[in-house]
Amino acid sequence: MTAITSSGVKKIGVLTSGGDCAGLNAILRSVTHRATLTYGMEVLGIRNGSAGLLEDVPNVMPLTEDLFNGDILRRGGTILGTNNKGDPFHFPTGDGSFRDRSGDIVDACHDLGLEALIGIGGDGSMDILRRLTRQGGVPFVGIPKTIDNDLGCTEVAVGYSTAVDVATQALDQLQPTAASHSRVMVLEVMGRDAGHIALNAGVAGGADVILIPEVSYSLKSIESKLQRVFDSGRNFALVVVAEAVKDEEGNKVTALQSQGVETYGGVGHYIGRRIAEETGAETRVTVLGHLLRGGVPSPTDRLMGTIFGVHAVDLVARGEFDRMVAWTGRKCVDIPLADAIAGYRAVDPDSSVMQAARGIGICFGDD
Ligand code: F6P
Repeated sequence: MTAITSSGVKKIGVLTSGGDCAGLNAILRSVTHRATLTYGMEVLGIRNGSAGLLEDVPNVMPLTEDLFNGDILRRGGTILGTNNKGDPFHFPTGDGSFRDRSGDIVDACHDLGLEALIGIGGDGSMDILRRLTRQGGVPFVGIPKTIDNDLGCTEVAVGYSTAVDVATQALDQLQPTAASHSRVMVLEVMGRDAGHIALNAGVAGGADVILIPEVSYSLKSIESKLQRVFDSGRNFALVVVAEAVKDEEGNKVTALQSQGVETYGGVGHYIGRRIAEETGAETRVTVLGHLLRGGVPSPTDRLMGTIFGVHAVDLVARGEFDRMVAWTGRKCVDIPLADAIAGYRAVDPDSSVMQAARGIGICFGDD
C-alpha cells in the first residue's frame, strides 16, 4: 500500500552536483527507497549533475529499489557522477565563449516528465539549481553535502564526517613516522575557504599547530610553539594546514590543474619549507587532496544521508518546495533554500572547538 501524496507528484528526478564526497550513495538509496516504497513514485537519476540534462538525449538512469541491494551504501563517490564546473547560466561552448543554457535544462526536465527535482549539493550548486528550477517552474528540494561543511543553517552536511575521519587517520599514521625520524610533519587538507576539516581533524589527531584561513598566523608564533614542544623533550611535531591559508605576504597559494583550472593547493609545502628555514627542523609534507572525498562513508554520513533522503522525499510528497533539509538541535528540519544559500559558515574563532583547542595549547599561529 503506497501513501497518498498531497502534492500528487508521481515522477521525480534526483541529481548529485558539485564535488563528490562520501555518503552520496546513501542519500540516493534513501531517496529511492522512500519515493518508491512509501509513495509509489518513479525516480530518475540524472547523470553528471545538471550536465546530464544538456546532452542530446538526456543522460538519466532509473533508480529502483533493487539497484541498492548490493554494496552501494558502502561506496564513496556517487553512482550518478557529478560535475563542479559548467554553470548552465554561463556555459562554456568549447570555442572560448559562453552561452546561457539554463533553458535547455528546464526543457529537459519537462520533456522527461519530472514533476519535482531533488538536488544534492553544496552552496554553489544549490544556488544554481534554485535559479534553474524557479526559472522553469520545476519544484525543487535540496539536500546538503560538502566536505567543506561551510553551508549555513545546518549543523551537518553529508561528506564532512568522513573527510574528518580520513584526515584524523592521516595524522594517526604520520605520528609514528614523525617520532621515528624526529621530524615535523605538515599535513595539508582541503576545505576551500573554511578551516573546519583542518580544525576538527587537527584537534582529534593531536596536532601541535593548526593553521586555518579564519586566523592570521606568523612564522614567529609557530616557531615558538615548536621550540616549546622540543624543549619539553618531544622529538616530533604535527602541523595541519588548511588549503586556503595564505603565504606570509597574504597571497593565495594555488596549483594549476588540467584545462587551465586553478585550485587551492601547495600551501603545505610553503609552510613546511618556511618551518625548516626558520627552525632548522627536518620537515616532510603530505597533501591529502582528494583522498578526503573518496573515503568509505563513515556511519555518520550514511546515517545523515538516510535521514536527509527520507525527509526530502516527504517534502516533495507534501508539496513543500524551495526548501533544503537540515540538521539542527538534534533533529532533521527543513529551511527556506534562500536562507541556506545566504548563510555561509566559516569557522567561528570563538566556537567551543576553538576554545578547547586553545585550551590544550594548540597553536594557531596568532599568539
Ligand atoms: O568543495 C569541495 C572541494 O573538495 C574543496 O575542498 C576543494 O578546494 C575543491 O573541492 C577541489 O575541487 P576539484 O575537485 O575541482 O579539484
